[in-house]
Amino acid sequence: MCGIVAYVGPKDAAPILLEGLQRLEYRGYDSAGVVVSNRGLKMRKVKGRVADLAAVVPARFKGTLGIGHTRWATHGAPSDVNAHPHLSADERIAVVHNGIIENADELRAKLEADGAVFLSETDTEVLAHLIARTVEDAESLAEAVRAALKRVVGTYGVAVVDAQRPGEVVVARNGSPIVLGIGEKEMFAASDVAALVRYTRQVVHLEDGELAVLKADGFNTFSSDARETAKEPLTVDWEAGHYDTGGYEHYLLKEISEQPETVARTLRGRLDDRFHIAHLGGLNMDARESRSFRRVKIIGCGSAYYSGQIGAQLIEELARIPSDAEPASEFRYRSPVVEPDTLYVAISQSGETYDTLAAVQELKRKGGRVLGIVNTVGSAIAREVDGGVYLHAGPEVSVASTKAFTSTAVAFALLALHLGRVRDLSPADGRRIVQGLRALPGQIEEILTLEPRIKELAGKYADSPSMMFVGRVRGYPVAREGAQKLKEVSYVHAEAYPASELKHGPLALIGPEMPTVAIVPDDELLDKNLTTLGEIRARGGRVLMVGHREADPRLADDCLVVPRNEIELDPILLSIPLQLFAYHAAVALGRDVDKPRNLAKSVTVE
Ligand code: AGP
Repeated sequence: MCGIVAYVGPKDAAPILLEGLQRLEYRGYDSAGVVVSNRGLKMRKVKGRVADLAAVVPARFKGTLGIGHTRWATHGAPSDVNAHPHLSADERIAVVHNGIIENADELRAKLEADGAVFLSETDTEVLAHLIARTVEDAESLAEAVRAALKRVVGTYGVAVVDAQRPGEVVVARNGSPIVLGIGEKEMFAASDVAALVRYTRQVVHLEDGELAVLKADGFNTFSSDARETAKEPLTVDWEAGHYDTGGYEHYLLKEISEQPETVARTLRGRLDDRFHIAHLGGLNMDARESRSFRRVKIIGCGSAYYSGQIGAQLIEELARIPSDAEPASEFRYRSPVVEPDTLYVAISQSGETYDTLAAVQELKRKGGRVLGIVNTVGSAIAREVDGGVYLHAGPEVSVASTKAFTSTAVAFALLALHLGRVRDLSPADGRRIVQGLRALPGQIEEILTLEPRIKELAGKYADSPSMMFVGRVRGYPVAREGAQKLKEVSYVHAEAYPASELKHGPLALIGPEMPTVAIVPDDELLDKNLTTLGEIRARGGRVLMVGHREADPRLADDCLVVPRNEIELDPILLSIPLQLFAYHAAVALGRDVDKPRNLAKSVTVE
């Protein structure tokens, strides 16, 4: 996904911009570019990596103000010309832009009719032309940018510089994140705090419709109608070191391996051994309110949605409230009935996923009570919701979500315990869950020791053209997430089905060429699951069973045995070997593990 970095201060801008762009590489991109201002604008941009851009930035590329961009093609193919920044015809204005300008064709036609000549196929270039047309007569660059943005329909995060105002950068946001970074006599801006943490931990998030003017000695923010807004800086606790691979070959493996610690952080200070309850101060709900909900609806996208399915199961089992999860991307388009006695829970690692954010905004518009389970402090979704739970899992860099998925499931267990204990969950069951949660970090540690065996199994199964993942009830979301991980990082086709549904259709696919990963916990459905394994084997299907015991060799070719926890919490542990399985399958197949093709870390467009 596109990335923005901007700098104004006493230092040379180019190295800071390039470093910032490198920090955004994990989001996925196809080209990169920078502009610095020094008696006119100097620009370099290339199709390819930030390293390719750095190679064409000359040593004498001096200037203490600049903007940079990594582009993920939407309008026009990846190319040097389509890369950002885009300049106005007189090279006075430079713009970088994230998001999509929906009326770009119409604006372009009008500008062309008026004599403008476009160099690129992008939607962004219209902005450079529009700003250039008014900047001469405008009182400030901010005024010209505001006027241009008023004509735009769509989403944007933008950064703009004017060669004739070499001391300021203007940034603005509508649906695509912009964060300001406050330094010592220097200011930064970026689309993601990852680009800022090496320089400052003091940040300010822009709201939709806001615009900011950055100068070396500070910043001012304004609403869309040009009224100055007051912003409180926030201190982020993520450090530059969190964005390093820490000696691991890939971020994905690092993030899988971090999970004993990240789960411990999600739990820290939240478990009460006296009353066997979870304390979640951020919910902003008293016990009476917590008791008042008759339904729970969970929304999120991709892996966040699958962790929501685990969450729905946990809430239904522990709090006995009917609960279900739905992709936020579907929910927002179907004009959902928003009920006052339903608790809505939005899940997002990044806190910026546009579909989830739009669903939350729709819920809020209709008076829904929305909690967030979010990893990124101060992100758009975190700011939009009425309360929630932060994961404290640290930044997740690899495109495939692992530690955030696991911590979200843990956060749901905390929420379910909390809701359960203010309702009907007995102290004995509360104690059982508290103890189970406390055991998780150590048990994840144990599962990680299975890595050599999982690597061997991934090598054995990775050359299959397609794999089936099955699970029943608690095991089904585990199967779905397992299939999702495998397909996104290894590109092996994988399909997840409830084990109970196999014989209603997909069993026709089973044969020696389509192995099955079966999630078989030792719960009340064990016998049913073993029967399913028998049915698969009877059709010549190979089976890798993930569960709590070695299976009869007549039922499974291979087994991965994970430690047992409480049956309600077992899905959290059963998911971990599947993450390692997908990782090693991807490595065996030579895939770009951390940046799978066609995917971006956070999807901030519709
Ligand atoms: C996870 O492996 C995926 N890359 C993706 O499904 C992700 O979970 C989804 O896009 C939601 O992201 P979010 O948690 O940042 O909202």
